[in-house]
Amino acid sequence: MKYRTIGTDPTTRREVSVLALGAMLFGSVTDEATSFAVLDRYVEAGGNFIDTSDNYAFWTDGGQGGQSEELLGRWRRSRGIGDEIVIATKLGARPLAPGTGYTDNPEGLSAKVVRESAERSRERLGLEKLDLLYAHIEDHTVPLQETVEAFAALVAEGTAGLLGVSNHAVWRVERARALAAAAGLPGYEVLQYAHTDLRPRTDVPDALFPDGSLGHAGPDLLGYLRAEPGLTLVAYSPLLKGAYAHPERLPADFDHPGTPARLEALREVARETGASVNQVVLAWQIGGEPPVLPLAGVSSVAQLEENLAAVDLELTPEQRARLDAAH
Ligand SMILES: NC(=O)c1ccc[n+]([C@@H]2O[C@H](COP(=O)([O-])OP(=O)(O)OC[C@H]3O[C@@H](n4cnc5c(N)ncnc54)[C@H](OP(=O)(O)O)[C@@H]3O)[C@@H](O)[C@H]2O)c1
Repeated sequence: MKYRTIGTDPTTRREVSVLALGAMLFGSVTDEATSFAVLDRYVEAGGNFIDTSDNYAFWTDGGQGGQSEELLGRWRRSRGIGDEIVIATKLGARPLAPGTGYTDNPEGLSAKVVRESAERSRERLGLEKLDLLYAHIEDHTVPLQETVEAFAALVAEGTAGLLGVSNHAVWRVERARALAAAAGLPGYEVLQYAHTDLRPRTDVPDALFPDGSLGHAGPDLLGYLRAEPGLTLVAYSPLLKGAYAHPERLPADFDHPGTPARLEALREVARETGASVNQVVLAWQIGGEPPVLPLAGVSSVAQLEENLAAVDLELTPEQRARLDAAH
């Protein structure tokens, strides 16, 4: 395994594995025995960066989520896991009632929600301190200042370590960080966005982002990261939910003329290296400039093994340049 530092403050920064594990479907779609086997193998291979959220996976049973955090809590207790494993969680997108969702009825990012939801996550996970806590989605009903102060209060009382943000417009991330800096408070340092080798159209509205998806790491976000090397990009859905292995799963916003050229470049490098396309994607992210920390979900130990092997795959500068240039 290889490791990277996330965060800059010596009191909160952590050394994490360059491949993060997504636990979104653990305890719901993925049964407990399989989830535990994947988690055990990930830790055995040196992995120490696991991702969940207070709302995972509410859509699988029409509830409010929490199954993933609860499973991770049971796994931690049964294995005697301490703070050597970084478990990142998120708040803000938990539906307020069963049968609703994060588009129509999210908990949001008020000071009350930040305080109470972080407390519930700590209970489900069995943690004194959340090593990394993200704001999951934007909340336009609450002043940014209130959210910034609420997150910082958790750091001050020692119940949160690093702060992160997901699916926010880059200007909101920058404004929140500027508000925090001006007040001498800790700001968001870990940015979680969808990112993979294939590039989506960004002008396709969806239910959450009617102006075009804010969830994808686009050129504005990558430019921001280059300017702020202390920030880390964590890439969710790096394997496009299995679409590289199952092309029929490719989402509609990837159906455009740039996709075949990028897929062909990936396949070419996969042939040259003897690796799978999934592994080339992950290795390309890990060794990229700026580096990207892929957060992959898996439903079996076999998939995890394939993804872990990507950590040791070194692409040549020429292969990297070819992958970057394809369009
Ligand atoms: N911040 C956010 O808004 C947000 C949004 C989405 C996800 N996330 C986080 O990111 C994590 C990963 O996201 P994701 O599950 O969407 O991403 P993903 O890693 O792109 O897809 C995971 C799926 O890809 C398939 N897969 C994985 N490895 C494979 C392999 N080696 N060969 C073939 N198929 C493989 C599996 O599908 P099958 O099970 O069908 O085989 C697996 O369930 C989540 O667990 C969650 O923690 C965050």
